[in-house]
Amino acid sequence: MNKNAKIYIAGHMGLVGSAIVRELKKQGYANLVYKTRKELDLLDPVAVSKFFAEEKPEYIFLAAAKVGGIMANKNYPADFIYENLTIQMNIINNSYLNKAKKLLFLGSSCIYPRMCPQPIKEEYLLTSELEPSNKAYAVAKIAGIVACQSYNQQYGTNFISVMPTNLYGPNDNFDLETSHVLPAMIRKFHDAKVNNKSEMTLWGTGVAQREFLHVDDLANACVFLMNNYNDSEIVNIGTGEDLSIKELAKMIKDVVGYKGKINWDSTKPDGTPRKLLDVSKLNNLGWKYKIKLSDGLKTTYEYFKSLNL
Ligand SMILES: NC(=O)c1ccc[n+]([C@@H]2O[C@H](COP(=O)([O-])OP(=O)(O)OC[C@H]3O[C@@H](n4cnc5c(N)ncnc54)[C@H](OP(=O)(O)O)[C@@H]3O)[C@@H](O)[C@H]2O)c1
Repeated sequence: MNKNAKIYIAGHMGLVGSAIVRELKKQGYANLVYKTRKELDLLDPVAVSKFFAEEKPEYIFLAAAKVGGIMANKNYPADFIYENLTIQMNIINNSYLNKAKKLLFLGSSCIYPRMCPQPIKEEYLLTSELEPSNKAYAVAKIAGIVACQSYNQQYGTNFISVMPTNLYGPNDNFDLETSHVLPAMIRKFHDAKVNNKSEMTLWGTGVAQREFLHVDDLANACVFLMNNYNDSEIVNIGTGEDLSIKELAKMIKDVVGYKGKINWDSTKPDGTPRKLLDVSKLNNLGWKYKIKLSDGLKTTYEYFKSLNL
């Protein structure tokens, strides 16, 4: 991408999209295009066609999506499959029709089978059963990957797909109804601390293993891949290191400064037992993460406090 290329960031208000905008600005990209949901509803095919025909973006970061944690996925599977399929197909098809030079599609590590070997290599996609709790979301994301590959195959486009691990950082969603595990824990520990609770409860048993990447690292990787990767095969983005949910809870408890007791509600689901990405492909392309979890948690907690929720 040259520094004056027209770059559209879909979903620029979100965790990922806002980090990509920050990263692009930091690197001196000067011709960025983005619209709020009010200005451009990505579920509206007519509005999306009109936007692309008028703006003709050369590069597209597709970071708009309906995203949520276990509870949201369980309660709203129809919304997850409908909205994600519609948003991504509107953008992918119009990128092709308007001759975009390149598109980067944001998938997710939850596209991989529930029980696949660890760490998860890119080639494990579609080798066995998906995790049932977020199947609708995962199937929509897999359709997005296959769409990018199909357009490349049939039309010679350059649409790439990346699969980030669990992300966290500024602009994360701290709403307990819809949030992911890490921001939900920050909020729960913070609330327990300010309300002087002697104990608090977290979902599951705490034994599940998870990997976390700071969203600023993810954004840096996305810009790197936009500039350095031209292949239909998916690329994992992560740290390649994981920890148990119990260990994560201990780290967040310390960062927040909560002194009480943690109870684990084992009647609630743990989700996939382990989810660690094999990031050797990305490392071999020349990219590695920089922000340590201990540092990222501190800055994310500072951000959370600044929201005054
Ligand atoms: N968060 C993670 O841990 C994680 C991990 C792996 C992959 N990813 C992937 O990264 C991508 C972005 O996730 P995120 O965490 O940044 O999600 P997010 O914070 O919820 O952001 C999604 C963005 O999409 C926008 N959007 C949704 N529906 C729209 C519509 N109909 N019209 C216009 N804009 C719409 C939202 O707009 P509003 O601001 O108006 O709601 C929001 O700005 C997703 O594809 C996700 O699968 C995320």
